[in-house]
Amino acid sequence: MKRIGVLTSGGDTPGMNAAIRAVFKTGVDIDLQVMGIYHGYKGLIEGRVGYLAHADVESKMHKGGTILRTARSEEFKTEGGIEKAISVLRAYEIEGLIVIGGDGSFKGADALSKRGIPVIGIPGTIDNDMGYTDFTIGFDTAVNNVMNEIYKIRDTMRAHDRVGVIEVMGRRCGDIALWAGVAGAADIILVPERPLSWADAANRLAANKLRGQLTSIVMIAEGAGKAEDFCEYVRKYTDVEIKATVLGYIQRGGNPSAFDRVLAAKMGQRAVELLADEAHMRGTDRIRENRIISVPLAEAVSTRDCFDDKLYDLNSVMAKF
Ligand code: F6P
Repeated sequence: MKRIGVLTSGGDTPGMNAAIRAVFKTGVDIDLQVMGIYHGYKGLIEGRVGYLAHADVESKMHKGGTILRTARSEEFKTEGGIEKAISVLRAYEIEGLIVIGGDGSFKGADALSKRGIPVIGIPGTIDNDMGYTDFTIGFDTAVNNVMNEIYKIRDTMRAHDRVGVIEVMGRRCGDIALWAGVAGAADIILVPERPLSWADAANRLAANKLRGQLTSIVMIAEGAGKAEDFCEYVRKYTDVEIKATVLGYIQRGGNPSAFDRVLAAKMGQRAVELLADEAHMRGTDRIRENRIISVPLAEAVSTRDCFDDKLYDLNSVMAKF
């Protein structure tokens, strides 16, 4: 193998740049030419490809976002789109591809792999919703971002004796709400994996108020509903004063944490090694018990993440008194 390509796809995550840097440097170290593909699969189809150089990756490791840009592509989900992508890879003589992204990006990687293109996936999404890995790149940073906002919101809620409801990202996965909620001492965590009825949650808030706890923090993952809808429900059935905050994109930006930079460096390096090693082609990097492992892409895309029920239960105990 002489030339490989790297792209970022789907929602950006802090740490993608650190992964791109690791891919580039590892590639150069073993005499591979590394090409950057801009704007994800959309850019691949359109042939937005260029050689990466040291100057592209230098002083970018600490930055959020992605120097390769990202996009979501409907065309790539079609047979015609995949064929176009393959013809671009062939035209540029790119013999192997590294895809940094989430679940949708991995499905695309699997489609290419099934058509004979050697592809390695690096899990990068703040949602932490991918199977076969304990952590995805960007999740730790997002959790820290959210945790810092919880304490600011708590200050102003306490000043007014109010309950604060904080909506965080996670369409199908409550990990950001759970981890930031534990780190930020949330009283109630609403996630899709552990449905708690809004009636029960409202009763708990009313009970907190009765025993003199006027300020509570409720975390809600977007997959479990909207913060404003929950507030309206609570206002309807209790006398609790309650306010919603939707954190939105603030949680996806900013400099990556040390954990995410190190994880990205490890996964980036391993991805290139796997790609260069014929025996392991068509796989994906994962971290399990602090070890980077690899699993076939097809297996990875068909495995759902395991929610940490014990951590959820721990928080329920912490929030009791
Ligand atoms: O990156 C994952 C994610 O943050 C989801 O939790 C969220 O629903 C989605 O991306 C929103 O991203 P966008 O608005 O860029 O499509």
